[in-house]
Amino acid sequence: MLERINNILAEVEEFTAQSKEQLEEYRIKWLSKKGQISELFEDFKTVAPEVKREMGQKLNELRNKAQEKINDLKEKFEKDNSSSAAASIDLTLPSDPAIQLGARHPLSVVKNQIIDIFSRIGFTVSDGREIEDDWHNFTALNTPENHPARDMQDTFYVQTNPEIVLRTQTSSVQVHIMENQKPPIRTISPGRVYRNEAISARAHCQFHQVEGLYIDEQVSFADLKQTLQYFSKEMFGADTKIRMRPSYFPFTEPSAEVDISCTLCKGKGCNVCKYTGWVEILGCGMVDPQVLENCGIDSQKYKGFAFGMGIERITMLKYQVKDLRLFFENDVRFLKQFTPAV
Ligand code: DAH
Repeated sequence: MLERINNILAEVEEFTAQSKEQLEEYRIKWLSKKGQISELFEDFKTVAPEVKREMGQKLNELRNKAQEKINDLKEKFEKDNSSSAAASIDLTLPSDPAIQLGARHPLSVVKNQIIDIFSRIGFTVSDGREIEDDWHNFTALNTPENHPARDMQDTFYVQTNPEIVLRTQTSSVQVHIMENQKPPIRTISPGRVYRNEAISARAHCQFHQVEGLYIDEQVSFADLKQTLQYFSKEMFGADTKIRMRPSYFPFTEPSAEVDISCTLCKGKGCNVCKYTGWVEILGCGMVDPQVLENCGIDSQKYKGFAFGMGIERITMLKYQVKDLRLFFENDVRFLKQFTPAV
């Protein structure tokens, strides 16, 4: 019996399988129920008691070695298999043209550009709420009930409660910020606003604005102009000019509207600028001292400027989009044009 054990042991030690099939063949030959090693275990029952101990140890050693060998070789075959599958993937092949890449919505693209431009000169981003109370959307901004300026913005009321509105302007975020923070304040607030307007190529019941606010001890109209000039050049190109026209907003004094030289005709006159060479991009002004006081800021000590622009308007000018409704229809033929180059 010892001889048979030693023979099989030698065979196990020398064995290397050429294939998975051959490995399986040897596993059966040695270790299956009717295999050689199992047979030896059967015979072991009849060996003489004096050699049982030695024989038992030898037999166990043989079975363990055979099992180990089979396991090692099996693992090796599996590894080879997976690495050859990885090697057969050609990473230089072009991707499947049927799989279309998504794109950012143009309004998100422009919103992110605006954030980027202002953050470079120290403006943070503040979030607001779309459902507002009358105080933050109107009254604190010098527009009390029955003030004629309320007619400038047709308002949606929530559940016919005259106190709760869908915000008509992101200027409402200014009020929250001034109520909750101490100057210096330098922040922009992008977000969606709502107005009860008939939908057309130039108006919609929902759109997006970015509000800007800067409050500190020494803030002048010159700072406002410089900031907006910087913004316009960054957004529309270094040769862009701006001009300011006197205007009226209840919460700023003085107030202005800002035009940029027409991006399409460079100021020569075309149908985008209605042959004036200028297009309006935003409203702005010095924060009215009464608004500062309404929000708990000492108007003797602090001054500030504010501005507000429509993201749709900026996007339309930048990409020459002629109809506001396109932004909300989600027509892939429109959206695809903003797919980033891969
Ligand atoms: N909230 C104004 C609007 O919706 C835009 C605006 C004008 C915002 C002047 C301002 C500002 O902060 O100073 O028409």
